[in-house]
Amino acid sequence: MCGIIGYTTKSSNSVDVALSGLKNLEYRGYDSSGIAFYNNNELDIVKAKGKISNLDEKLSKMNTTSNCAIAHTRWATHGEPNETNAHPHHVGKVTLVHNGIIENYAALKEELQQAGYTFNSQTDTEVATAYIDYCYNKCNNKLQALIDACKKFRGSYAFNVIYEDEPNTIYASRKDSPLVVGYSNKGNFAASDVSAILDYTNKYSLINEDDFVKITNSVVTFYNDKLQEVSKEIKTATWDANQYQKNGYDHFMLKEIYEQPKVIQDIFSRYYNDCDYADIDFSNFDNIHIVACGSAMHASLVGKYLLQTYAKIPAMVEVASEYRYSEELITPKTLMIVVSQSGETADTIAALRLAKEKGAYVVGIVNAVGSTISREVDKCIYTYAGPEIAVATTKGYTSQVAIFSTLVLNAMKQKGLLDEDTSSKLKDELLTIEDKLNEVISNRNTYLDIAKDIYNHNDLFFIGRGIDSTVCMEGSLKLKEISYMHSEAYSAGELKHGTISLIEDGTPVISIATDPTLFEKTVSNIKETKARGSYSIFVTTDKHNDMNFAEFADKTVIVPEASEFIQPILVVSALQLIAYETAKLRGCDIDKPRNLAKSVTVE
Ligand code: F6R
Repeated sequence: MCGIIGYTTKSSNSVDVALSGLKNLEYRGYDSSGIAFYNNNELDIVKAKGKISNLDEKLSKMNTTSNCAIAHTRWATHGEPNETNAHPHHVGKVTLVHNGIIENYAALKEELQQAGYTFNSQTDTEVATAYIDYCYNKCNNKLQALIDACKKFRGSYAFNVIYEDEPNTIYASRKDSPLVVGYSNKGNFAASDVSAILDYTNKYSLINEDDFVKITNSVVTFYNDKLQEVSKEIKTATWDANQYQKNGYDHFMLKEIYEQPKVIQDIFSRYYNDCDYADIDFSNFDNIHIVACGSAMHASLVGKYLLQTYAKIPAMVEVASEYRYSEELITPKTLMIVVSQSGETADTIAALRLAKEKGAYVVGIVNAVGSTISREVDKCIYTYAGPEIAVATTKGYTSQVAIFSTLVLNAMKQKGLLDEDTSSKLKDELLTIEDKLNEVISNRNTYLDIAKDIYNHNDLFFIGRGIDSTVCMEGSLKLKEISYMHSEAYSAGELKHGTISLIEDGTPVISIATDPTLFEKTVSNIKETKARGSYSIFVTTDKHNDMNFAEFADKTVIVPEASEFIQPILVVSALQLIAYETAKLRGCDIDKPRNLAKSVTVE
């Protein structure tokens, strides 16, 4: 969602630097962009609908000499994506960029209108800008004005503010939306995340919810809401700018798919060499709630399956935005596991805060180091998958599944359900997953061939049973989000209870059958669709290599057979590549699909 970068410098290239940082935030998803800077004490605000290149083009025709700039990519919430609604907004003496939603903006707008303010846009941000100006006119103190205004705002925000009478200083604050400060010899930054500033510095501090920050080109000062200075740890980012490059791949998504073998292998190596799950004792809890959104929720379904099947521990999976409706079930004996690649997903944060309020113990499975979720959970297990830039998650999902596998193995050990022989066989298997995954992703021609068969269709179905049905959900989501094809994932046995009416001559059905005990039943379900004309793409393991699939499969994808602790990772990698090749044939913007945001920071 919206990306923010502000830069104040001793030199005069703040606009160029802010713009290049903004490009590193493109992955978050946006539909317009804008920048504000003072040039010879004159304020310039430049905005453009669509890609940042449109903004770049406008700026290239201007004199952009300036010591300080604040820039923004907007993912529309209040008001359509056009230049009027794009940020920065300027009212009175205040210029502002904002990520988040001011939920009570309508009431504040009325208050401001009565005080004589008028508005041009449909946004909550213009109201926030006016409100800060209103407070500044009252108290004549810039930090105090920001503190006073923030006390009035309900909802979420990350702000970069410039005041007209101090145009080279950025004021910043945040609540429920991410914002970091970056330090360099040439100047200082306030940005949505570290990726925006890594080309210039790896030194940063996290802004806490009750921090108010004054940023000049040489000094950064943190205050609390009583205007007392607070000290702040300066951290060093371990991700480097190179990880934010495509490094020869056509798309970030492809690069990230190809990073999976190493990422997953590293997770299992860490588990066997350096595991600290001692404080997650499953026997301490009465119930387990696994809560997440989107693909992270799909990974949670694999986790639930493994937990129940192998550790004999029941668990509930809930999408984060619905979790509050299960409030009655949360007790101090609840173990909540929240799963999030970005660690900034607003729905997931709200769910975890609710669970903590109710006394639950919360474990996070998180990729982004230092993110809000990683800081608020009782225990954080990092996936260490490295930065994920493509909006559609790939290594984010598979690394979450891998962490669940390790958690379940640990739970089995705790309960005495893992004998030495099985344990050592599993260890051998998990520690060689890299080879199997490389085998799956090297099969590119098969996936391209399938993509050619399906890319012209509008509807598609994924079916499977057991753990395969959860993998179907992820395969289906990948396809629809990047190729814009309508696709549904169904439990293979459920299709005949209604949805099979949608199968027509030629409708592609991708079926997965990896579990030998469910194989025959799934094949019967595939035949039911075949009898109604489906075009059948069958995904199975090399265990069934000697079978004749021709009777029910038009195309076949074979992945290496593996235990269920890693089988979903192998299968989904094939599905990710089918989605990728299909989206490519359809000419879609693979890394930045329409309407989507990488980091969903509003509820
Ligand atoms: C799909 C996708 C989303 C995310 C979801 C949760 O490819 O990326 O469905 O999985 O928005 O995001 P995180 O994991 O950052 O909480």
